[in-house]
Amino acid sequence: MLPPLPPQPLLQTSLPTSLNLELVSRGKVRDIYNVPFSEDLAKFYASKLGESGGIDLKIRDVEQGALLFIATDRISAYDVIFKNGISQKGILLTQLSAFWFKELGDIVPNHVISTSFEEIISVLPLHPEEMTQSDYEDLKTQLKGRTMLVRKARVIPIEAIVRGYLTGSAWSEYKAHSTVHSIPVPPNLIESQKLPEPLFTPSTKADIGMHDENISPQRAREIIGTELYDRVEEISLALYKRAASYAETKGLILADTKFEFGLVDSEPEVSSGTAGSDPNFRSQPDGKSKWAPLLIDELLTPDSSRYWPLEGYQPGKPQPSFDKQYLRDWMVMNGFKKGLESGPPGKDGEGWFIAAGIGEGTRQRYVDCVGRLTGTAN
Ligand SMILES: Nc1ncnc2c1ncn2[C@@H]1O[C@H](COP(=O)(O)OP(=O)(O)OP(=O)(O)O)[C@@H](O)[C@H]1O
Ligand SMILES: [Mg+2]
Repeated sequence: MLPPLPPQPLLQTSLPTSLNLELVSRGKVRDIYNVPFSEDLAKFYASKLGESGGIDLKIRDVEQGALLFIATDRISAYDVIFKNGISQKGILLTQLSAFWFKELGDIVPNHVISTSFEEIISVLPLHPEEMTQSDYEDLKTQLKGRTMLVRKARVIPIEAIVRGYLTGSAWSEYKAHSTVHSIPVPPNLIESQKLPEPLFTPSTKADIGMHDENISPQRAREIIGTELYDRVEEISLALYKRAASYAETKGLILADTKFEFGLVDSEPEVSSGTAGSDPNFRSQPDGKSKWAPLLIDELLTPDSSRYWPLEGYQPGKPQPSFDKQYLRDWMVMNGFKKGLESGPPGKDGEGWFIAAGIGEGTRQRYVDCVGRLTGTAN
């Protein structure tokens, strides 16, 4: 259940300075802080090793510390971050990611160490009893329900997209060239049609401020190496198939989704990687190395996936969806086009604000989607 709706969405975290936590990055949606290595972290991690379901975890996994992965209520569409957000979006999406990480944990290890506020604060540099009451309350308001403590990984610089249906940029490319990410696809398919088999169609992982780009499998192999590519493809397809079957039992079509993977050291004699995108990625050991893939980031949320209602599904046209399409359509209706990222026509530079009714409509779609999938409808 969600806590009562707060008056304001959490647009940006500002953690009490007494904690002295380093802000590692502020993405479109997430604020990420470094949690330094400590005895507490090591002990806590050790206590979790027994719960790993056979996954090979070692204390060394957190020797370089961990990350506080906080989903704010920011929302972006067409790479525009709105000036106002969607209250509790970060909580909804964290609930859903946590659900999927658990559900799919037997396919591939993932970065989640804990999603419990009480557990998370027990590994921060300052213990609750050492904080002032107001710092503690402040921390609780900002973190609870929207934060995961995660393992640091070296991010694999592709977005692992899997498509089960012909829609979005894949439909545009297909109409023009009968291909999807340069892969030939059978002729005479119609918009929103189910593909004969789910397709693994990676894209580049753009740096901040840049756009992801659809690329061919061949290009992706060049970027990350063939062996790692094959492994990521195999895992991504397995994750998609399991998730799509589950979603169908809840009345939802998982049309497509995007996974992110990191690499973690899997053998004792190799030192651990560092967090964040590594510009020297290609000079790192290839697929034969001692690095193992780790599922990271958010998982199968409406921000990273297209979910359609199964009821009323009819190919040949766009489908109503639980993702940001509703918001994107509203932006376009209000004059959005490329080049107007910093504000609507005539108000360039002022930024984009979601109208109240549209914000509520977007929120309802998130609530509905998360409720259907996790059985915690509000
Ligand atoms: N375990 C991890 N270790 C290191 N980096 C991670 C880990 N999990 C996720 N990340 C990175 O953290 C960032 C998450 O931030 P966020 O999703 O807000 O930003 P973004 O990806 O720029 O935006 P968007 O998701 O809207 O494209 C991503 O760059 C992701 O690759
Ligand atoms: Mg992201």
